[in-house]
Amino acid sequence: MTNDLNEKTFLLLKPDAIQRGLVGRIIARLEDKGLKLVAAKLVHVTRDQAMRQYDCHKGKPFFASLIDFITSSPSLAMVVEGRNSIDIVRKLMGATEPIEADPGTIRGDFALDVKHNLIHGSDCPESYRHEVEVYFTSEEIKEYKLELEPWIYYI
Ligand code: RTP
Ligand code: MG
Repeated sequence: MTNDLNEKTFLLLKPDAIQRGLVGRIIARLEDKGLKLVAAKLVHVTRDQAMRQYDCHKGKPFFASLIDFITSSPSLAMVVEGRNSIDIVRKLMGATEPIEADPGTIRGDFALDVKHNLIHGSDCPESYRHEVEVYFTSEEIKEYKLELEPWIYYI
């Protein structure tokens, strides 16, 4: 747990989220929670980017199909900010296996397949630092004040 209101996390709305027209509804859930959007970019992920993002899974049986899927069609890369944003986003996403993802989560409500599970989110600060550099320069991550912040946090 942190009290850092500027904790950042990296998200990738995967090709199935775009193809299924779920991007608006997924972003709305992040906004509804009070998270601040600080970077967003539509990217057709290259194989090099995919392998860098998911290098921790190299050698696993699903690695090749994961890389094929992530590079198959455009994705939306994003950075959001907020207190405990890394763990909060993981909770909003739901479990990796859709059968284990609780209703009310993004995967629990919209996904049926472990690969077509719509969204990636960093799982710890080290992963965030590694992943964000694959997609964004520091200039592309915006710093600004959310005017509603005093109504979202007890500051
Ligand atoms: P992500 O990294 O995409 O946010 O997902 P995650 O943390 O919930 O899951 P992780 O274990 O990091 O796995 C990365 C992605 O690989 C695919 N996967 N397929 N058994 C399988 O076929 C299998 N297991 C994992 C999923 O797309 C998962 O999101
Ligand atoms: Mg992961």
